Amino acid sequence: MPKAELRYDCVSGLCVDTLPGRCGVVIFGASGDLTHRKLMPALFSLARRGLLPERFFVVGCARTRMSDTAFRDKVRQALPATTPADRRLADRFLNACYYLPGNYDEPRTYRALSKRLTALHGRHKTGLNHFFYLAIPPALYGDVVAQLNRAGLVDQKSAGRPWRRVIVEKPIGRDLSSAMDLDRVLHQHLRENQIYRIDHYLGKETVQNILMFRFANLIFEPLWNQQYVDHVQITVAEAIGIEHRAGYFEQTGLLRDMFQNHMFQMLALVAMEPPASFDADRLRDEKTKLLRSIRPFPTDALDRHLVRGQYRQGRVDGQPVRGYRAEDGVHPQSRTETFVAAKILIDNWRWQGVPFYLRSGKRLPRRVSEIAIAFRRVPHSIFHPLAPQHLMPDTLVLNVQPEEGISLTIQAKCPGGKVCMMPLSMDFRYNQVFGGNPPEAYERLLLDCMLGDQTLFIRNDNVEVSWALLTPVLEAWEMAGRQPARGKLQGYRAGSWGPAAAHRLLARDGRKWRTPGNARPACVAGEARS
Ligand code: BG6
Repeated sequence: MPKAELRYDCVSGLCVDTLPGRCGVVIFGASGDLTHRKLMPALFSLARRGLLPERFFVVGCARTRMSDTAFRDKVRQALPATTPADRRLADRFLNACYYLPGNYDEPRTYRALSKRLTALHGRHKTGLNHFFYLAIPPALYGDVVAQLNRAGLVDQKSAGRPWRRVIVEKPIGRDLSSAMDLDRVLHQHLRENQIYRIDHYLGKETVQNILMFRFANLIFEPLWNQQYVDHVQITVAEAIGIEHRAGYFEQTGLLRDMFQNHMFQMLALVAMEPPASFDADRLRDEKTKLLRSIRPFPTDALDRHLVRGQYRQGRVDGQPVRGYRAEDGVHPQSRTETFVAAKILIDNWRWQGVPFYLRSGKRLPRRVSEIAIAFRRVPHSIFHPLAPQHLMPDTLVLNVQPEEGISLTIQAKCPGGKVCMMPLSMDFRYNQVFGGNPPEAYERLLLDCMLGDQTLFIRNDNVEVSWALLTPVLEAWEMAGRQPARGKLQGYRAGSWGPAAAHRLLARDGRKWRTPGNARPACVAGEARS
């Protein structure tokens, strides 16, 4: 249970954070990339912010043979500790880091872990509260959880003391049936309130802000529906290709990698009904309800709703880059998609007839994620001779990254002519207001797991609904053959905004993709000449 509550004023705002109670963390996959790039720096950053409990330790577990000292040295290199105070803190933090080598499929690993945890509890007085982070291939989740159970390491009384939690990373399955199988296995050994399914997008400050923005303000909610919103665009663009992840990406593709989780989660937060409270289950009820209202993709006319693409060679940031099929580890005739654009319709009262256009891709011109709410045009223009179609509709953009912020573009008068206006943008930038970069997503998520707060984690019904929507698409793509209606894999030049078909997807509805981060200011003059 949370031990103390810290309340402080943050830039004259209300800020409440809770200090978690004592615990030990076990990371499986501790010699891997995720541990060193994200998890250990995030834990250290929590320590810097005074948000780690005093009684705390980390045990890294992996197959690689390594001593505690070697593990600490490796972790030290990953910690951003440049000042003397940070280095002192890093020493204290590293003193509480330990390492246990072992094979994940051998019972003796778990016996050794159990002994080690008891000993560390003796030293750090952590109350035998533990969370286990599975930073390992998903194929191993079932075995590791079963072994933890057999060793008595995930036993949790209904009162929840000591608590035992397990964090799993995506991918949670690769289609509906594999996701359900995994869920069954996890539930053989754990209760749902012990399972923390991570989607790191939910830990991003700007994604969390969608809830504050919508439900801590009154002025937007009345406009947030089919009466005022013309359409919504969600873009997650990356300039990078697949880097060293060909093995994973070839098996996964972009729809599984980005849509089933990050894109659908953002869509759910933007479009769901207000939950009764900021409570894990109330919030997740609403997200599931929203995802259930998405109209299934028509598999006989998929090309009217979805475009899949694969990058060819091109230039990104002025540098020549290879096409996907020429990347190391990629099959020369690979049919894996690296880009997806989708038109999504939501069958409920709020959103009837409002398309949500989602797109995400690798090797696009730059890294940018945003959610743009495009409002309808004014019904009538009083500014003769300008007609309503001359007036650019208002747009609200939630900039998820990298320039975190919010901008609202509205029409305003340009000085000069009597009827002369242009879209002006009211901008709020996180770094201007708060300075520096917002905390990393993993900090929030690790902290919430210690606190037992599942609000920003995915519940199993959520996973199922999103796979239920996407599995028929994946099957249709696999069997597409020569049926263009099922959606051909389209090439696009690296460094472009995706295949031409993605532009046609919107053009058919008389709309265009925004160029993210671009408010396109232009003066509209309607000076009448006499
Ligand atoms: C991961 C995907 O979940 O998210 C990657 O597997 C992708 O392919 C990454 O690059 C994007 O995350 P972020 O935080 O950099 O936008």
